[in-house]
Amino acid sequence: MPSEFVLQGRLVRLRPTVDSDVADYERWNVPWLKVWQFDGPWYNDTLDRMIEKRKKWLAGDRRPPYRHLEIDVHERGHAGWVTASAPPNDPHMTEAGIDIVEDSLWNQGLGTEAFGLWVDYLFDAFRLTRLGYSTWSGNPRMIRVGEKLGFVIEGRIRRGCEVNGQFYDRIKMGLLREEWRARHDEGQATGSDGTGQTT
Ligand SMILES: CC(C)(COP(=O)(O)OP(=O)(O)OC[C@H]1O[C@@H](n2cnc3c(N)ncnc32)[C@H](O)[C@@H]1OP(=O)(O)O)[C@@H](O)C(=O)NCCC(=O)NCCS
Repeated sequence: MPSEFVLQGRLVRLRPTVDSDVADYERWNVPWLKVWQFDGPWYNDTLDRMIEKRKKWLAGDRRPPYRHLEIDVHERGHAGWVTASAPPNDPHMTEAGIDIVEDSLWNQGLGTEAFGLWVDYLFDAFRLTRLGYSTWSGNPRMIRVGEKLGFVIEGRIRRGCEVNGQFYDRIKMGLLREEWRARHDEGQATGSDGTGQTT
């Protein structure tokens, strides 16, 4: 049963989407939340497409491997999500994503732990050789999360986006499987206490 699948961390857990999450997505689908200033603000879109995707997934067979999971913060509940995507027939360009919606939860280590659990899952579930993610120079928090997990800056597309009349660089981060495994062996893979487990 997909609902029993959990990636358990010390601060957060990752679990498959359930029907009641849709209401949270709809509640979060408002332009004034600070989260949208950081997650690709130049796209200027809303959660509409993601809500449709989640509904489609919920109506389907929901079978693993998962390409998105929900983030629950201990004693707080549903707080965001992680995603993975790759262009068609291009698995080596798989990219991960993460959003924690409420900014009051930022800078407490939740994102690093959640992303670490997700990275670990993706390397195994999709037998990845490498994993990347895209961000931008206006989001040093997301760059730092990756650095804490062992990602390095592999590419910088100079002035690749414009936000509020100012140009920023697009940043491509990457991590190789053997680099991740080496961190595992040293016990620092998830960026917190390395207790991530699948139950
Ligand atoms: C990005 C995000 C997932 C990170 O989660 P988080 O829980 O805030 O991250 P953590 O607390 O684990 O780590 C944040 C790190 O960034 C650092 N940081 C915060 N602001 C910073 C800044 N202006 N410059 C440099 N580092 C900064 C923190 O100090 C911390 O590093 P440290 O542990 O070395 O001190 C979360 O903030 C978020 O969802 N933001 C909005 C959406 C978003 O940006 N998504 C990613 C789109 S590419």
